[in-house]
Amino acid sequence: PLYNVQRVDQQIKPRQPPARPPQIFPLLCLHCTIMASPPRSPGQPNRPCSEDGIPVVDLAVLVNGDARERSQAVRHLGRACQDWGFFMVTNHGVPEDLQSAMMDACKELFGLPPEQKAEFMDAGPMDPVRVGTGFNSAVDGARYWRDYVKMFAHPELHCPAKPDGLRGVAAEYAARTRGLLLELTAAISESLGLPAGRIAERLDLGSCFQILVGNHYPPCAAGPDDDDGAVGLPAHSDHGLLTLLFQNGVDGLQVKHDGRWLLAKPIPGSFFVIAGDQLEIVSNGRYKGVLHRALVDRAQARMSCVSLLGPCLDAVVKPVPELAVPPLGLEFRGVKYRDYMEHQQSNKLNEKGALDLVRVQRHILTDTLCSS
Ligand code: OGA
Ligand code: NI
Repeated sequence: PLYNVQRVDQQIKPRQPPARPPQIFPLLCLHCTIMASPPRSPGQPNRPCSEDGIPVVDLAVLVNGDARERSQAVRHLGRACQDWGFFMVTNHGVPEDLQSAMMDACKELFGLPPEQKAEFMDAGPMDPVRVGTGFNSAVDGARYWRDYVKMFAHPELHCPAKPDGLRGVAAEYAARTRGLLLELTAAISESLGLPAGRIAERLDLGSCFQILVGNHYPPCAAGPDDDDGAVGLPAHSDHGLLTLLFQNGVDGLQVKHDGRWLLAKPIPGSFFVIAGDQLEIVSNGRYKGVLHRALVDRAQARMSCVSLLGPCLDAVVKPVPELAVPPLGLEFRGVKYRDYMEHQQSNKLNEKGALDLVRVQRHILTDTLCSS
């Protein structure tokens, strides 16, 4: 097959990506690009997935399929969000060359001499450009085997002046991936039985927050964990609504599914989509932010590029009332996204600790009632 997912205990075979020169791309309409993608092969199953079951969502069908194909694809997307919180998206319309150019620009940035990055290295979680090591070195304790660059990309793009080509590529990449994430959000809204624009309206996505992150995990032969090697990023869910991720051909992203860690192996050219905490809140817990982590390869540098879409920073995120039906009612209290993100980014990464703070603690009452 074109793609597969290996269990963690199976052998990992990293591949080297082809080197490509950076390029500048014309801003094409997402729909036009998707229209140009080849038709699906006949007989494709209605629930496409990888060997280990990671769902595969074909964006071309979601956007351009006929009514029957679309409703099937929306249902498939809904199941992907409900059962996994993690899927791959194909025929997404973001040119592969643009992906490579983004990866190359991040790589170039990591290779710059420290003095050219110094002004971004003491930055805090709410500063629009941040370069660092680990997750948050002020609270990490043991350092994680990771370098990162984080750039706020919407409503306004912030970006280091060096390397030279970074701003142009980041602007284009942010715009294209934002369009894709907004399309997915509309289809996810439909999959919850809501109008396509309902989530966007609740989260004020016209003024959405978007951040681009470049991750670099240098090779590490021996790690603290004998079975799995060094940890690049520990288990966490993402603070936003949806995260889009692709990597440089070296595996290491693991996703927790049915209580087990699975190594995610991408279909070439596809993106991973990771459901975040705001999706869990707005859907009143129907779609959960999925736990994932990044392991480090023993021999090769691993890189990933992340484009994360979140609500407007000033939006107070609450469950959509239509989804908060009796007997359960509201699963989450409202929280301003800016406060949520600042809290999640300022503390030790601790699985879903940030989300638990806004969860309505219903079981306490149940326990009290049961024991009395
Ligand atoms: C992240 C993340 C995983 C990876 O940046 O939030 O989960 O594979 N990255 O780099
Ligand atoms: Ni993450």
